[in-house]
This record gives sequence, structure tokens and C-alpha cells, in this order.
Amino acid sequence: MKKIVFLPALIGLGIMYVYPAHAKDLLINTPRTTLLLQAHEGHDLRVAYYGSRIEASDVAAVYAAGALNRSAYPAFGAGCQDETALSVRHADGNMTLDMAVQGSTVAEEANATLTTVTLKDRLYPFTVDVCYRAYKNSDVIETWTVISHNEKKNVRLQQYASGFLPVRIGDVWISHLHGNWGAEAELTAEPLQPGLKVIKNTDGARNTQTDHPEIMISLDGRPEENRGRVIGAALCWSGNYKLRVDTRGKHLHYFFAGINEEHSEYELKPGQRFTTPELALTYSEEGLGGASRAFHRWARNGKVHNGTALRDILLNSWEGVYLNVNQENMEEMMRDFSALGGELFVMDDGWFGEKYRRVKDNSSLGDWMTDTVKLPQGVPALVKAAEKHGVKFGIWIEPEMTNSKSELYEKHPDWIVCPPQRNPIHGRGGSQLVLDVSNPKVQDFIFGVVDHLMQENPSLYYIKWDCNMSIMNYGSHYLTADRQSHLYVDFHLGLRKVLERIRNKYPKLVMQACASGGGRATYGLMPYFEEFWVSDNTDALQRLFIQWGTSYFYPSCAMAQHVSASPNHQTGRRIPLKFRFDVAMTGRLGMEMQPKTMNDQEKEFTRQAIATYKEIRPVIQQGDQYRILSPYGNSGFCSELYSAPDKSEAVFFAYKMENFVNQFTPRFRMDGLDPARNYRITELNRTGNPAGFEGKTFSGKFLMENGLELYMGGEFASKVLRLQAE
Ligand code: DGJ
Repeated sequence: MKKIVFLPALIGLGIMYVYPAHAKDLLINTPRTTLLLQAHEGHDLRVAYYGSRIEASDVAAVYAAGALNRSAYPAFGAGCQDETALSVRHADGNMTLDMAVQGSTVAEEANATLTTVTLKDRLYPFTVDVCYRAYKNSDVIETWTVISHNEKKNVRLQQYASGFLPVRIGDVWISHLHGNWGAEAELTAEPLQPGLKVIKNTDGARNTQTDHPEIMISLDGRPEENRGRVIGAALCWSGNYKLRVDTRGKHLHYFFAGINEEHSEYELKPGQRFTTPELALTYSEEGLGGASRAFHRWARNGKVHNGTALRDILLNSWEGVYLNVNQENMEEMMRDFSALGGELFVMDDGWFGEKYRRVKDNSSLGDWMTDTVKLPQGVPALVKAAEKHGVKFGIWIEPEMTNSKSELYEKHPDWIVCPPQRNPIHGRGGSQLVLDVSNPKVQDFIFGVVDHLMQENPSLYYIKWDCNMSIMNYGSHYLTADRQSHLYVDFHLGLRKVLERIRNKYPKLVMQACASGGGRATYGLMPYFEEFWVSDNTDALQRLFIQWGTSYFYPSCAMAQHVSASPNHQTGRRIPLKFRFDVAMTGRLGMEMQPKTMNDQEKEFTRQAIATYKEIRPVIQQGDQYRILSPYGNSGFCSELYSAPDKSEAVFFAYKMENFVNQFTPRFRMDGLDPARNYRITELNRTGNPAGFEGKTFSGKFLMENGLELYMGGEFASKVLRLQAE
């Protein structure tokens, strides 16, 4: 087979080589986007185009105009000294790869088309399947690889990214999330400059507390919500990750995403297959908002467990009683919440431990038997009480963890993540330890924790699955010496195995992923969880920022947002109950407080707000989100709108974040409405007199082009408007 030779000098000048016309063009199509590949047998797999949808008849034009024409999965070795997606050490010590297309297949799935291109090394029995799943009901393409070989001995994977995309240089900006405990998902946007931009995480367990494996790439200058071309990318991996954008020369940015290979070289046995996690890509011509809505649709249609089911309104006991749970206060909270219209009660941390009771956060993790001093009749009595009070029941666990003060650790000291030769460093409470989830025995144990709870309490409705420690002791008693470098990866593959088992047996059990707040907001886990806890910070003002950032990639149905007490336990800020509800209502509404501390007026407002949320819940949880005024915009205001997919109904939210005399207040324009329809406006959660627009009808066009004047007097004013098409 003739090999095509590239002329680096020409490429350096930005002149692209065009394949001969007989090359095999693969159009990977979603309803509104296309990724065009050249899979010419015996040659490198090339990516030619990613953008708005094109048809086969447009392909010639793409090449004639100048295609991207870069390797679709760059491997280290022959001809490649740049950043790569794949790098290995063969059984004989050779460190190069020279991959060529061997063939491709296309398979139709229920909601997607799966295209697989098989690459084979020209010399070694080493194969990579590059896979692309293009969805029919959202504009998302997932790409990943399956790496295997038949060499005589193990091949060492040194770098094994999920995917790669070249992006044309222009005024290109990236937006991504970073943060910390209580301040997750803070948004940052920056222009791409020459050099290597790396977003990576090495936490090992709760990998989205400080930053996220997702990125928006705005191609037309400073990112805008509703305008401009945007590529969105989300890596579906719960462990350590690395996103790289390499900007070299004047022509292309090179974007890579995958498992972080640092301290994670992977020994692949002959015949063994290594599947990299999916990298989900979207392309939008409607700005950041369009890319977000594509991710949200994709998530609801399968990437979040039970993504189309409506979520219940819950009360979680944590900020109400912290670890001091007992039969009386749990029952009291259930009863009070039920009287407010609540649907689900969740008992948080503090309910377990026999020999070592969980009275402080320094013991008992792993000992998942009821503390009978606090709860003499165990969990079954609470489930029964919940039934009596007309709410469903949920429970907190942290099953991947233990404490040095626990029966579990006394019995299985070798089950913790730690090099056998060293003493462990402890986490929370000075005694927390992470269990070694790469160990199948530990996997069985974790499955057993959930299984036992479910067997004992068949009507248990919800589990809050927490994870409050990073991997701080690198090493495994279970993994052999030559596979110690598998720990970061095998921990998460092990976790997936457990979650698969749980989901196979208990598909209806509702589960929340929590990790010291938002440490596990990741598409690596969302196929197994209905939702995640967005942040331990429940301060409504700071939540506006956290929720805004999180919504770049995650749908409202997956975002657990709770109304908490005032003054707030994290910031000490006093915020009116209305504002707290108005902020929490843009996601899966819940409460995180002791209802009995509320006065009658607050209870009445809460009762009404809960009833209102039930009415608008389908639009909020299943509708399209339009972010309008950003809290990061320094205007002192924030607004957004949720619109039913058929635009028959919408809910608009506006918040005042600062309060000054003679303060400028914008006129509030809407987005995401049908310009041709008329909408009747009703203010929800209203505390003052009706505004002039109350009950009146406006065209979608008017509301989007002219908007409304909203009276936003005083501190922490907020408005929620329901728009119903007539
Ligand atoms: C951390 C979580 O984020 C909190 O909501 C709470 O569940 C505590 N853990 C309990 O220990």
C-alpha cells in the first residue's frame, strides 16, 4: 500500500495536504452537526472537519476549501514529536507506533450511530479501535478508543487519551470550571495563547472539587451565551483526568482529553482490551447556551440515570441536626416536611456504628450497622415512620471509606489504599481512610452495603452516596508490584463495576453522588446517579455563581439545590427565604434545615413555594435552559429562563445580587421563547403587590426584544415569572 507522506514545511506554512478523492470519507452526523473523517485504508486516520451539519455532497467542498486534515488519534512514534493521544512501550522495548487504518464499521443503535475505525500498527500486532457514537436525539458525538495487542509480553500504555480534535486558530477562547470546597464550578474564560494549556486533576477520588474535565471552546472571540460558534467537550471519567490544548504555530490548536496518565502507566496483557472513557463533543452556533442545551439533552436522554424522570422535593437532615440524628428528631423532621408538601426525607450522616458509634466524624465509616443508641429500632422503623408521615425515605452512606477507628479496619487493615510498606496519612477527623476499590473483595463489600440496606428495607427510595477523602496514600495491598501504577485507574473501574451491579439489581433506586459537596459532578458517574450535590455551600448568593458554572455542562434535573437556614451556615449571610427558594428552584429543589425552626409565615411561604415548584417542575427539570444575565457580568443582577421543549411554557428567574442607592437596574429581556406566540405572565413566589404585567399577555418577540421592567427594590430582591402560551 502506498503511504502518503506529509511535508512538514508546507504544514508549517499552514498549507494543508488534500487527500486524493478516492479516500473513504466518514460522515459522523448528529441532527445539526458533522464530524468528517478520512479513513483511507493503509493510511493514517484523519479528521477533516467538525462543525455544522454537512451532507455527502458537501464533502468535496470541504476539501477544496481547506480541511483540518490532522491525525484523528495522534500516536507517538513515526513522524510525531508533538503532543500525542497515545504512547506505548512495546514488549520488546520499542516506544514507537505507526498506525494505519485497517477498516471501519458502522452500526445502528436505538438512538445513535456507532462508527468504529480500526487502526493497526504497520509492524506490531497492536490495534486501536477509534469509536464515535453520534446521537440522533442530541447534537453530541462521543469518542473513545479500545486498545489491544497480541504481542508476546505486556505492552505498557504510557499515554492513552480518549480523543483528539484540531481547532482552527482565530480569536479562540476557552471557558472552564475551577474552584474548591464550598466554591465549586467557578467559571473562568481566557483566550488561547501559544503554548500548552493543561487542565488536570490528581485527586484520585473526588475529582471535580477543584476543577472539571469539561471545557467550552468559543471560536468567535470572547464567549457569549447566545451567539458564536462553540465546541463543547466533556470527558466522562470520574478519576484523574487531563485536558490539554497545545497551541503551536499559526494554524491550529490541538485539543486532547483523557485519563491523566501521570503515575498511571498501564500494563496491557496480550489479548486484553483497554477501553478509554468517552469524550463527549458538541458543536453549536448558538453560543455557550446552545452547547449547554445540547449537553443537557444528551444527559437527560441517557447519560444521567433515569434522566427523564421527575425528581422529588426532599429534605436532607445534615444542616438541620448534623450528626445528632435520633428516632425522635428524624420523625419530627419527616412530619414537619410532609406538612409543608415535601415528598422525600433523607437521613444524612450519623446513624451507624456499633462498637464505635458515629458521634463525631472521626469513626465508624465502614460499620454500616445502625447505632441502636440513637435509633433503637434501626432503619426499618424510620422507613415505616416515613410511610406513616406520607414521605419517601432515603439514607446517607459513604461506602468507599473507613476510619482507623472502625470494626471494618480492625478486620481488614489491608483493604485500605496505602502502600503496604508505609503508615497511612489520615483524612477527615484525623482518622478517615479510603478503601481500595481496585480490590474485588472491597467491591463486593461496597455492593453488599447497598444490597443489605435494600434487602432489609425494600421500600428504601434514595441513597446519598458520599465520598469525603482524596487518595492521599498511593499504593495497593491488592495490586501486584508490577501493577501498582494501575491504582488510580482501577479504583474507578472497580467503582464502575460496583455501580453496574447496583443498577442491574436496583434500577429504580434514586441515588445522589456527593463528595464533600460537588466533588463528584462528573459524567463518569452520572449514568449511575440521578443527581449530584452541587456544593456544601448553600448560601443562595454564592450558589448563583456555583449553579451558573455547573449548568454549563449539567442539566437542572441532576443538580441538587437546597434551601437552608439564615444566617447561612457556611457564609453567615442573612438572605430572605424568598430569595433562597427562588435560587434553589432552578434545579432539583430540596431543603437542608430544621423545619421546626421556621415561624408560621415562613412555613406558609414554604408550603406555597413547594406547591408552586410541583407545577413548574416539568419545565425546570426537563426544559431547555437559557442563561441570560450572568452573575459574573458585574451588573449586580442575574437572570435565566427555562422553556418547555415545545415552548408552550417557560419560567423566568431574576435576582438582584447587590444593593446600592440609585442603582442601575437593567430591563429584563428573555430568551428561548417562541416569537410568534403570546404568553400570559404570572409572578410566582410573589411577596409584594402585583406588577403591571401580572396576568397580561405579551408576544414572545416582545419579551425577547424589549423585555420587562421589574421592580427590584431592597436587598436580595428576586422575581420568578411563569409564562404560559395562550
Ligand atoms: C459531606 C457532604 O457534602 C455533606 O452534605 C454531608 O453529607 C456530610 N458530608 C456528612 O458527613
